[in-house]
Amino acid sequence: MAREAMHFICQACGAVSNKWAGKCDACNAWNSISGEAAEGPQPVLEIKRGRRVKLLPLAGSEADAPRIQSGVGEFDRVCGGGLVPGSALLVGGDPGIGKSTLLLQVMAALARRGCRAIYISGEESAAQIRLRAQRLGLADAPVQLGIETRLGSILSTVEGGGAPAASNTVIVIDSIQTVMAEVIDAAPGTVTQLRGATQELVRLAKRTGCAVILVGHVTKDGQIAGPRVIEHMVDTVLYFEGDRGHQFRILRGVKNRFGPTDEIGVFEMTGAGLSEVENPSALFLAGRQDNVSGSAVFAGIEGTRPLLVEIQALVAPSSLGTPRRAVVGWDTGRLAMVLAVLDARCGLTLGACDVYLNVAGGLRITEPAADLAVAAALISSFTNVPVARDCVIFGEISLSGEIRPVSQPEARLKEAAKLGFTRAITPPGLSAHQGGITLTQTPLLAAMVAEFEAA
Ligand code: TYD
Ligand code: MG
Repeated sequence: MAREAMHFICQACGAVSNKWAGKCDACNAWNSISGEAAEGPQPVLEIKRGRRVKLLPLAGSEADAPRIQSGVGEFDRVCGGGLVPGSALLVGGDPGIGKSTLLLQVMAALARRGCRAIYISGEESAAQIRLRAQRLGLADAPVQLGIETRLGSILSTVEGGGAPAASNTVIVIDSIQTVMAEVIDAAPGTVTQLRGATQELVRLAKRTGCAVILVGHVTKDGQIAGPRVIEHMVDTVLYFEGDRGHQFRILRGVKNRFGPTDEIGVFEMTGAGLSEVENPSALFLAGRQDNVSGSAVFAGIEGTRPLLVEIQALVAPSSLGTPRRAVVGWDTGRLAMVLAVLDARCGLTLGACDVYLNVAGGLRITEPAADLAVAAALISSFTNVPVARDCVIFGEISLSGEIRPVSQPEARLKEAAKLGFTRAITPPGLSAHQGGITLTQTPLLAAMVAEFEAA
């Protein structure tokens, strides 16, 4: 390959540069840039005028396209109520997190409901997949299995033959990184291959009306391109996350052209595959200990669903010049902010302490409403005063040390009441008793600190 015909693409974010670098300037990923053949200069094209586009009014007469529901409730809900015919969905996640397991279960459920379910794998052999299906108790489901990596063969299997794809067909491509279009002059797994193959599969969905599900491995190094580079091409992006040390798995909507993006689906990985978790709060709070300091229960909202989680903090004197700040499941920057507010507005200086913060169960929280629960866990650990066991906490902390209201307080309190909580520390402005819960409405963080110190 001639040197001038190369350009360099970050396999993590897709940014193009004309020289190699150890670190991508666009996304700061290390060692993710690799060279690919540049497409030659585009000649000026004489565009032949074609048939005129039939322009349509926005208000259509046809009813909403029916969704394809799998019956795996958590999956359907995160999709926005089922798969949309003619759409492409990307399921991303770390290798080994359970993407293949989840999709095999979804496909088996679809097949049992009479949909045509085609599962194309480029990673595992038929024997391996059959073995897994047997373990999951799905061996009798009429899923059609194909082992193939060549895009041409996948397309002709799906759209040609005696039974071309239709709107009740769902196709899984596991994984998109193994798919190879022979016409594209690049190795499988590169950005160029990935984009080319995705484009063709998205067109297949639009053309035939089937639903295409692409599996994408999140990769840490730049050997193969990550699913980020095709997010913009598909209709829906879901990420399957979780801590490998925990049995919980969270399916999270990131982008959805046909539904909300803030939904999560909660699964538990068991010996017989993934099982849906109907009451995640109970699961996330299981194993909570009595009367320990440094633990607070946060009443959160994930999507449309309230979710209670335990936040654990450990504040210990540090022997290091720069004390440690270790956070699992929350934002490090946000922790620094809460610590700064505790210091500047409440006179609680943790600057000489190591601080460890952990969201129990491997969940990742992004809501600012968790600020107050995090602060409570920190103060509780520092003062060695436990938070009452039957108390939930929520509220956003402002830089001035005030506690600000958050969305849907009633839903949070209702979920807490359902799980037997009787007290809550909340922002001001709510009515005093809500469904059997006694509220302590705190306008200032300093007031909460004072209560801990008085106890
Ligand atoms: P897999 O679906 O192969 O992950 P991915 O496709 O995302 O790479 O999941 C593999 C992991 O799941 C493996 O570590 C074992 C675990 N597992 C179970 O715990 N129980 C099961 O029933 C199955 C099928 C897998
Ligand atoms: Mg897999």
